[in-house]
Amino acid sequence: MSAIINNIEIVKTESSKINEVDFDNLKFGSVFSDHMLVCDYKNGKWEAPKIMPYQPITLDPSAKIFHYGQSVFEGMKAYKDINDKVWLFRPLDNWKRLNISSKRLAIPELPEDYFMEGLKALLELDKDWIPTNDGSSLYIRPFVFASGEGFHASPADEYKFIICTAPSGSYFSGDVKVLIEQTYSRSANGGVGFAKAGGNYAGQFYPTQLAVKKGYQQVIWTDDNNHEYIEEAGAMNIFVRINDTLITGPTSDRILDGITRKSIIEIAESQNIPVEVRKLSVKEVVEAAENGTLKEMFGAGTAAVVSPISGFGYNGVDYDLPKFDDTYASYFKKRITDIQTNKSEDPFGWRFKV
Ligand code: PLP
Ligand code: COI
Repeated sequence: MSAIINNIEIVKTESSKINEVDFDNLKFGSVFSDHMLVCDYKNGKWEAPKIMPYQPITLDPSAKIFHYGQSVFEGMKAYKDINDKVWLFRPLDNWKRLNISSKRLAIPELPEDYFMEGLKALLELDKDWIPTNDGSSLYIRPFVFASGEGFHASPADEYKFIICTAPSGSYFSGDVKVLIEQTYSRSANGGVGFAKAGGNYAGQFYPTQLAVKKGYQQVIWTDDNNHEYIEEAGAMNIFVRINDTLITGPTSDRILDGITRKSIIEIAESQNIPVEVRKLSVKEVVEAAENGTLKEMFGAGTAAVVSPISGFGYNGVDYDLPKFDDTYASYFKKRITDIQTNKSEDPFGWRFKV
């Protein structure tokens, strides 16, 4: 069965897998919904998107993604409210950031309507896959990669834009303990750290494996110069609370400009919670942990939402953070998820109805 709606060809699956899924036990990003969107870039232009049953794709072994890593992605979530209405959170920011990432990797930018109309059509078709249990959502993974062929180390002439979705529970199970990195670097000045480029994640895996062996879940990256300043974690931006002040490092060409991060800053400002966007040295954080003024650390991101950090390791010493109720982390998590799931007013205009 094929239909064309809004210029998008839609081929529906003949056998939905939805009844095989245990929606009460969803691991993050490990089961995939029935359909995916695919859009090809050929002969210098993006062709109209198509929606088809979720399936493997075929690529030539010389496709440049395999050799030169031209690949960027986004992370978003869809939520369903109690009236079965479907919502996204600041989706245009994801589209803009995808293109910012693409530009840096010499990948052609994608038109807004292909992204937005494609996403809406895909969610309309797979809306039964959006979980409604607390803390669950439909994780959305839009990505673009070089499908064009050849060993010449130059940008490909063909690309694919794909959107897949995965009903997902929490990214972390429980509190997160982090290691402040002193040897490896995630990114460098003038590099691709600000882009959501696949290679940025590949480069983190080995140092993160070393940290996991020591009992930490994530690495907190520090500047590549002297490992002096806190940058961000592997899959989230970082906030620190010293006394009552919330502090996060400024974005730069080394750090991903997180949508959750900027939303937290805006909420804090609207509530007169003191918030400082400035360089934050490891020394300051360690001293605050030692003198008891370090109240909280938490990560912020689409997958991570707002994830409290229970402690950090630095220079071979483990520092625990205090445990108490009414944390900033729990406040921001509730404010953001209530807006995302249409449980509260949205004074910022962030919620987007599909
Ligand atoms: N930093 C990195 C490296 C990430 O992968 C993510 C996740 O997307 C974030 C920060 C948070 O960004 P956002 O809030 O836009 O999801
Ligand atoms: C997200 O939060 O959407 C991300 O892309 C992080 C990811 C590496 C799981």
